[in-house]
Amino acid sequence: MPAATPRIVYLNGAFLPENEAHISIFDRGFLFGDGIYEVTAVLDGKLIDSPLHMARLERSVREIGGTLPISTDEIVAIEKRLVAENALTEGVVYLQYTRGAEDRNFLYSEDLAPTLLLFTQAKTLEHVAAVEKGLKVKIVADQRWERRDIKSVCLLPQVLAKRIAKAEGCDEAWMVEDGYVTEGASSTAYIITHDDKIVTRGNGHATLPGCTRLAILDLAREQGLTIEERPFSVDEAMSAQEACLTSASNFIVPITSIDGKPVGDGKAGPMFKRLRTLYMENARRTAV
Ligand SMILES: Cc1ncc(COP(=O)(O)O)c(C=O)c1O
Repeated sequence: MPAATPRIVYLNGAFLPENEAHISIFDRGFLFGDGIYEVTAVLDGKLIDSPLHMARLERSVREIGGTLPISTDEIVAIEKRLVAENALTEGVVYLQYTRGAEDRNFLYSEDLAPTLLLFTQAKTLEHVAAVEKGLKVKIVADQRWERRDIKSVCLLPQVLAKRIAKAEGCDEAWMVEDGYVTEGASSTAYIITHDDKIVTRGNGHATLPGCTRLAILDLAREQGLTIEERPFSVDEAMSAQEACLTSASNFIVPITSIDGKPVGDGKAGPMFKRLRTLYMENARRTAV
């Protein structure tokens, strides 16, 4: 069988076939998890919610005292070139920034050149079974650090949470702290109350400020829907009318069971359907 054509990736100023792109064994992203990432969806060959992802990237890098080696406009141009060169119509662009490579030491040289890597990944995002069927969620303890607002590459707690979820036949883990859901292992968590309120945690250090969340809540507000930005408990989620999650690679999908118990009637609900329609229309209209 002929080998698949290698993807073109971007690494530190160069566009290269993936098998020719190499990162140092001394890279601090590898040795310390000293890095930041972003994932931007691609639909019809265009970037979704791009300004939101670039704003969050800048913020994350600033919060760890780093500096992007190029502007976000240049990053978006690189993303567009990767999408074009790899003929990507649907999937994601992954970006990773790390502090750079030097001999191992907790402290780093102030003039260290950062590592910047971007690659595309083809994936069906829009027409997926989860939109009709819903996802199953497993409740797990939130074992992460206290700056979850920074999109750090240190994802071991989420890897372990998803492993537990999978072992229980679930699709996503909802992480819980002090009885309240913080967020999904790689998504923002919502419930819809019986009086049609959309409930999700407010932004702060406890969760990642989701770009899809920001877009969805703006659209919901424009429609006059009621939003409560507050923590919700596992018990409240179990007795909610609907539940759903958002993320760049899922957009918005319904959650139809939590720890094996159906949410509402166990089917994708009307609020989810309304939000999904609003979001998909807006995502396409604002894609770049
Ligand atoms: C922990 C966590 N929360 C929320 C999200 C959703 O963020 P976004 O909508 O920007 O993809 C993600 C996405 O990876 C995540 O990892």
